[in-house]
Amino acid sequence: MHTYQAAPDVDVVTSTANVAGFGNLAINAFVIHAAEPVLVDTGAVRESDEFMTALASVIDPADLRWIWLTHTDFDHIGSLHRLLEQNEHLRVITSFLGVGIMGLADPLPMDRVYLVNPGQSVDVGDRTLTAVRPPAFDNPITAGLHDDRSGILFSSDCFGALLEDEVPERAEDVSADALRAGQTFWATVDSSWLHAVDRATFASELDRIRALEPTMVLSSHLPAAQGSSLERLLGALADVPDAPAFVGPDQAALEQMLAGITG
Ligand SMILES: [Fe+2]
Ligand SMILES: [Fe+2]
Repeated sequence: MHTYQAAPDVDVVTSTANVAGFGNLAINAFVIHAAEPVLVDTGAVRESDEFMTALASVIDPADLRWIWLTHTDFDHIGSLHRLLEQNEHLRVITSFLGVGIMGLADPLPMDRVYLVNPGQSVDVGDRTLTAVRPPAFDNPITAGLHDDRSGILFSSDCFGALLEDEVPERAEDVSADALRAGQTFWATVDSSWLHAVDRATFASELDRIRALEPTMVLSSHLPAAQGSSLERLLGALADVPDAPAFVGPDQAALEQMLAGITG
């Protein structure tokens, strides 16, 4: 777990998950140093201690005013309740479905939530954050966001990449081939429904992101990418519907792996 600055007013709190046999995946949360500071997602559940330490190196958690929860997967909610308990001024931006799902595990206090749907905005003092439904996602709760001041698109799981080598801090430091292959593969895993989409409809979804003209793309699972890389990112996604479908190791493969380990 470490931090780096992606833009003058945005820090990344990041760790790397090694997915055995498939590569390395960044798990990012972001601090937007807005007039009302915003934390986008809260790290993985099992790394909460490390996350809180890393977060404190870029902002006093008591100064945070908002958590933008892009969705409720275990790699995004790790320190959610801990932060809410420590800071009575924090509110969680999520959706009706997000509140519902959290209610099955650890309910969110209703006076601490702020519900948004795609297209709706939140004023955080010096900028407006608008909820954006990314073109690929693994959870119907998903809402990324566009920051009108910095021009950055926070895309949640969309545009993530499984990378063979160590995860750098800039997407531009990954070779074009490795980035494209890693992004396309990740999307076949994370958004396997893309194989069944109407190609023209999907192309218009990609156009919707293109029209935002983001200055940067900050994905939960990709090193920070400059806006100039957008066409490469969109190109990798465009390949997904016709890419080989992901099929995970089955029981026979698992037993072979275990035999290899014990052997
Ligand atoms: Fe997810
Ligand atoms: Fe994720």
